[in-house]
Amino acid sequence: MALNKPMPYSTRLYRAVGFTKGYNFYLWLLLSLGLGGFVLMRLKYLDLYGTFCGSASGGRDLAVPGECFYHLQPGRYQIGIMVHLACILPASALALSQFVPAFRRRALWLHRINGYIATVLCVAATIGVLAILRRTMGGGIDTQSMTGLLAIIVFYSSYKGIVSARRHQIEQHRAWMLRAWVNAGAIVTMRVILITSSMILSFVGDYYYVEPCAKINFILQGENATLARYPECAPFFSGEDPNRHIAVKADVIRRDKVAIGAMINMVFGMSGWLAIAIHAFGVELYLHLTSTERRTAKSVKLQQNGVDNALKAD
Ligand code: HEM
Repeated sequence: MALNKPMPYSTRLYRAVGFTKGYNFYLWLLLSLGLGGFVLMRLKYLDLYGTFCGSASGGRDLAVPGECFYHLQPGRYQIGIMVHLACILPASALALSQFVPAFRRRALWLHRINGYIATVLCVAATIGVLAILRRTMGGGIDTQSMTGLLAIIVFYSSYKGIVSARRHQIEQHRAWMLRAWVNAGAIVTMRVILITSSMILSFVGDYYYVEPCAKINFILQGENATLARYPECAPFFSGEDPNRHIAVKADVIRRDKVAIGAMINMVFGMSGWLAIAIHAFGVELYLHLTSTERRTAKSVKLQQNGVDNALKAD
């Protein structure tokens, strides 16, 4: 008599949350650990004045050096970053639960409500980023175009995802929502590329980035400290050139905030472009492989039903 082998622990784990294939579960886990971990670490940034831009309350900024020069200016920059953080952090947490099959099967009504809330928050967060686009992370054209592209991907995929859900086109709905969130998740991969490339370029050395004196003055907290290191900023302080920009060394190894900010500004756009390319390719490959698999499973089922019906007819 053949004894039934006990199911491995890992199989029991992914079956419990509703996955039928191990690799689907591990890919979900990868996205959840990456995005979820990032969200958990960044939750404290919701306190804009006390933590993210702590210099506003006498502390230190956790934002990239110099970013709070804009984030603390009343108006579109302040509102933009506030909306981005306040909307995207809860949206990401809600979105991760949407991809758990057991959650969808057991509480479809909750999946619907959760999905609408996550999508509205994500779209609002992306609009918030568009408001700060001109200045964020140095405001370079590489950064602006990368952020703009990601915004278009998020808007279009979310729109298609909602429309297909309303039409009950479940396969398309799954594909578009995966596109929306896997591509938005590129912002986590881009941080890995950003840190790695910043280190490499700092070792290579001799990289410079153009920064406004107003921002350098914000980081160094005073005219004397700024002029001591950057005398080229004199026309900014004299009022001769209030929009004076100068080239500063970009480096993350020396503990110099101006140089750290310059390096991060320099590589932000490139890191984003590379991360979007990786995620866009990855999600399309995943959709291609799994849709072939789903089609095969469906046709086997249909054939089986056909055989059953034929037998019944006999
Ligand atoms: C997937 C969900 C997302 C999460 C969890 C997220 C989270 C964050 C957080 C915590 C920050 C603060 C700075 C930092 O820690 O790096 C930030 C900044 C930023 N995010 Fe997002 N974000 C997401 C999606 C997006 C999308 C889709 C875009 C572009 C369309 C975007 C563009 C930016 C930009 C440009 C900044 C820099 C703001 C600055 O100047 O400090 N993010 N994001």
